[in-house]
Amino acid sequence: MTIHIGADKDDIADVVLMPGDPYRAKWAAETFLTDAKCVHEVRGMFGFTGMWNGNRVTIQGSGMGMPSMSIYANELIRDFDVQTLIRIGSCGGMQPHVKVRDVILAMTASTVATPSSTIFKDLNFAPCADYGLLAAAAEAAKSMDVDVHVGGIYSSDTFYDERPDLNKEMQRHGILGVEMEAAELYILAARYGRRALGVMTVSDHLLTGEALPADQRERSFGDMIEIALTAAFA
Ligand code: HPA
Repeated sequence: MTIHIGADKDDIADVVLMPGDPYRAKWAAETFLTDAKCVHEVRGMFGFTGMWNGNRVTIQGSGMGMPSMSIYANELIRDFDVQTLIRIGSCGGMQPHVKVRDVILAMTASTVATPSSTIFKDLNFAPCADYGLLAAAAEAAKSMDVDVHVGGIYSSDTFYDERPDLNKEMQRHGILGVEMEAAELYILAARYGRRALGVMTVSDHLLTGEALPADQRERSFGDMIEIALTAAFA
């Protein structure tokens, strides 16, 4: 047990999927896993462990933003010895060819700063996905006929932006979408020699203002989860 994850070490699998929303963790576990059991509910940030195609997997909420992600990923890596961490979440589309409902595989995650920035000081570390996971996820998406984009995303510290110029620069440099967690996950995986990937469904669009209606979210999010599970055990 750790401060934020009230589970026994054996309760957590080697592979962990991390949605921001703990209720999405519950929905994903109930929908995709067999024999899923809630292994802890500290702060309502549920963790569920069950089986997928004969493989043991945990789905643990990360909360919103990099400080929250950092707490859960640190404890999963350092205390539970988790080897593979895949963020499954939503993002805002930033390019015209990226449509709402599309899936983005985050090859890199640019940021202004993360909870690890104090370590790097003036160095601009380049957080990137595990190549094996990324390639397997791209392959899975192709075989499922899901519209997928592979490229850079932007991990922002703010949802309500006071710096629209940052989004503009990200867009100008080909960044596909914006979310708030992946960069710190990638940095922690690099530091501890683990595998990480971010798989994001485009839930809204910064250029068009379009947003996915609630009733259509589930199916799109389902594609993303299947891609993540297939990649984890490829
Ligand atoms: N900004 C930041 N995070 C997000 C967004 C967004 O527009 N959409 C989904 N997650």
